[in-house]
Amino acid sequence: MRTLHQGSNGHMLSTESQGGESQVWPEPSASFVLTPQLEELVERALSYLRAGYPINLAGPAGTGKTTLALHLAARLRQPVTLIHGDDEFGSSDLVGNDHGYRKSKLIDNFIHSVVKTEETMKTLWTDNRLTTACRFGHVLIYDEFTRSRPEANNVLLSVLGERLLNLPKKCNGGDGYLEVHAAFRAIFTSNPQEYAGVHKSQDALLDRLVTIYMDHYGRDTEVAITASSGGVSTEMAEKIIDLVHFFRKRDPSGQHPSIRAAIMIARVLACQGLTCDPANPVVLSTCRDVLHVGNPCGRAKHAPPLVDLQPTLQALWGPVQDRASHAWTAAPASAGALCPGSAEEVLV
Ligand SMILES: Nc1ncnc2c1ncn2[C@@H]1O[C@H](COP(=O)(O)OP(=O)(O)OP(=O)(O)O)[C@@H](O)[C@H]1O
Ligand SMILES: [Mg+2]
Repeated sequence: MRTLHQGSNGHMLSTESQGGESQVWPEPSASFVLTPQLEELVERALSYLRAGYPINLAGPAGTGKTTLALHLAARLRQPVTLIHGDDEFGSSDLVGNDHGYRKSKLIDNFIHSVVKTEETMKTLWTDNRLTTACRFGHVLIYDEFTRSRPEANNVLLSVLGERLLNLPKKCNGGDGYLEVHAAFRAIFTSNPQEYAGVHKSQDALLDRLVTIYMDHYGRDTEVAITASSGGVSTEMAEKIIDLVHFFRKRDPSGQHPSIRAAIMIARVLACQGLTCDPANPVVLSTCRDVLHVGNPCGRAKHAPPLVDLQPTLQALWGPVQDRASHAWTAAPASAGALCPGSAEEVLV
């Protein structure tokens, strides 16, 4: 049976069960935007992966790392193993563990006056995701790997260096090492160290990875992504990106808001059938909420308060265009087409 799942970043993951084993295949997404900037990035990353090197897509939140990782895995046409970094991880969460015992008892009564009993206890081992990926040659996507503590990731050093997975807990069964499958590839993603909940990775692991530093894409790419993922016209996407850039420039780190905010504004307005009209209170409140404008707890601490948002929008977007709708309305009948990317499961 094949199950298709669409993630909020537009990627399709197809899960196939065969003989009790389930495999996940990422499928190229129609909404994935490939501008010249992205094509260059994709080819560069694929060249490292095809040469057998693991890559680390490193950068601030919302710069397209996970989406790119899934696209690269789809281009490699191999099953994928997904792991999300977690502070609670120990190495057994990556490689596997004993989960019980099998007890067997042999009663030998061949000579009726002699009874020989032999009892053996064997531990039962279950592979975890890293072991499965190494054994079957999957593409490992280890998303936000620096959210796991460095000691949990130590096991990756020999996988990426000697291409041997060390399974010390399996030593007794004579199976303490697993040779990594030749097709095994690894894509890591990570946020900057100063982010909350992110650990500093060990230098030895970083030394084994080709790190591609990612920043926000250029304007043309961000406009194309907003139009595609937000379901709006290029002209409307341009206006929304100009607004996002206005606030990003004012952010002390220069990182917020990300493309996610642009996609959110685009989708919400598209679902309401609205355009970029600075006079429309729904447009104003959507921008205020998504961009945290005037919210002292929000990211854009230096953004103008609410009263200043309308002149800002007017300056960026030009004259008022649409006075038709001045209140929250139900989504139009065609909203399904205008609100792409909602997670859903489709059986095929
Ligand atoms: N090439 C692309 N085509 C279409 N949409 C894209 C593309 N790149 C990024 N996006 C969209 O931008 C948004 C942010 O991307 P993504 O989740 O990959 O960022 P990230 O860098 O992994 O962020 P975080 O560090 O917070 O996990 C997603 O909604 C995604 O769909
Ligand atoms: Mg991500």
